[in-house]
Amino acid sequence: MSRSAHPAGPRHADVLTEGHYSAPAADLNVLDEKVWARTVTRDEDGALTVGGIAVARLAEEFGTPAYFLDESDFRARCRAWADAFGPDADVFYAGKAFLSRAVVRWLKEEGLNLDVCSGGELTTALGAGMPAERIAFHGNNKTVAEIERAVEAGVGRIVLDSFQEIVRVAHIAQRHGVRQRVQIRVTVGVEAHTHEFIATAHEDQKFGIALADGQAAEAVRRALSLDGLDLVGIHSHIGSQIFDMAGFEVSARRVVQLLAEVRDEHGVELPEIDLGGGLGIAYTSEDDPREPHEIAKALSDIVTRECEAAKLRTPRISVEPGRAIVGPTAFTLYEVGTIKPLEGLRTYVSVDGGMSDNIRTALYDAEYSVALVSRTSDAEPMLVRVVGKHCESGDIVVKDAFLPADLAPGDLIAVPATGAYCRSMASNYNHALRPPVVAVRDGEARVIVRRETEEDLLRLDVG
Ligand code: LLP
Repeated sequence: MSRSAHPAGPRHADVLTEGHYSAPAADLNVLDEKVWARTVTRDEDGALTVGGIAVARLAEEFGTPAYFLDESDFRARCRAWADAFGPDADVFYAGKAFLSRAVVRWLKEEGLNLDVCSGGELTTALGAGMPAERIAFHGNNKTVAEIERAVEAGVGRIVLDSFQEIVRVAHIAQRHGVRQRVQIRVTVGVEAHTHEFIATAHEDQKFGIALADGQAAEAVRRALSLDGLDLVGIHSHIGSQIFDMAGFEVSARRVVQLLAEVRDEHGVELPEIDLGGGLGIAYTSEDDPREPHEIAKALSDIVTRECEAAKLRTPRISVEPGRAIVGPTAFTLYEVGTIKPLEGLRTYVSVDGGMSDNIRTALYDAEYSVALVSRTSDAEPMLVRVVGKHCESGDIVVKDAFLPADLAPGDLIAVPATGAYCRSMASNYNHALRPPVVAVRDGEARVIVRRETEEDLLRLDVG
């Protein structure tokens, strides 16, 4: 996640000795469309608009901080993924990135399936009408109660993550008199080039069953031997925010090798392979994500080629993008509060949110961009660190960025590409109230997840 150091902007040219940041954009008023939701633009007064509504109006009606989600962009991205993979493959939206009942309805309408990884996500999905057969249930430690609910609901697949779980799911399915469709999640031994905490296919970690030392082959043996299970495929997820297709190539090759071994040993050709999610998005102008059709072509070429070599029928491919669908569709709108210039260093810009609405910067060193959105400015760029209002110095939203030097308290600034893993990982740290998610479409804005209130906090505090 590092970027190269560039010559600094004019104002702080002499002091930028540490850190990694780009030079300021030539014109800070220009919005890089790569990082903003598709309907975002500036109106003739210079204010940012989304879905045709200016941010000042949104701030007035819904308050700040708040996440604004471009619904038509979300739907368009769903369609792009579904079209790219076509009728012979399945796209599962990874609900962990952001899930709400409205989102479930959009997914359903746009023909996507849904990956859930907890009882809460399962309840949301079922409650909003996602057909159970279009749901896949993941997790390295699903509780017995969660498995029961998934089996009772009739979810399309349960992705088995461990030897214990193979037995647990088989027992529960048998008790319910069903054969549960399952996949086995394997770790293929790929080091994805991403942050350690979001890389998931190397072997030294909690997820999945290693392909190495025949563990995965043994898991297949056990799953095939149990009456309650209908083993339909192998699953691999190699990590997150990945741009390089090489990791997927290795993963697909190793999974296909396992399918060939299974065919040789059991005479069974497993019909499905799931290559997980993890496709990167642009958080800053320096990120260059691939389009869904390129990803679909690359993945299907790899699988087809490997299957031909192993003389296997090409299995049905599925993928589980979360971030790549919802990430770019939302931005967080903040009001600027305290501004603290540190001469010769940088200017700290405090906003009315922080690590409680975006933990990714503190947790993964994630990089974001930021723009002044309530107006334009011709002032020179100043190097800023956008920080929150929490009692913690690591409470950083955007580590290094440039904003106009005439920035003032009361201005609205926005951080783009916060649709994924921001609201879903939001917390009540310092008793912060988690911000609302507002869907904007064709000149209309509506709350899909409301802002928390102090009553919400107190409701859980039973005194
Ligand atoms: N499938 C499985 C099995 C997963 O574990 C994940 C993400 C996905 C799909 C979706 O990955 P995506 O396409 O959204 O990258 N909180 C971290 C990301 C953790 C992802 C965990 N699993 C972040 O904020 O970057």
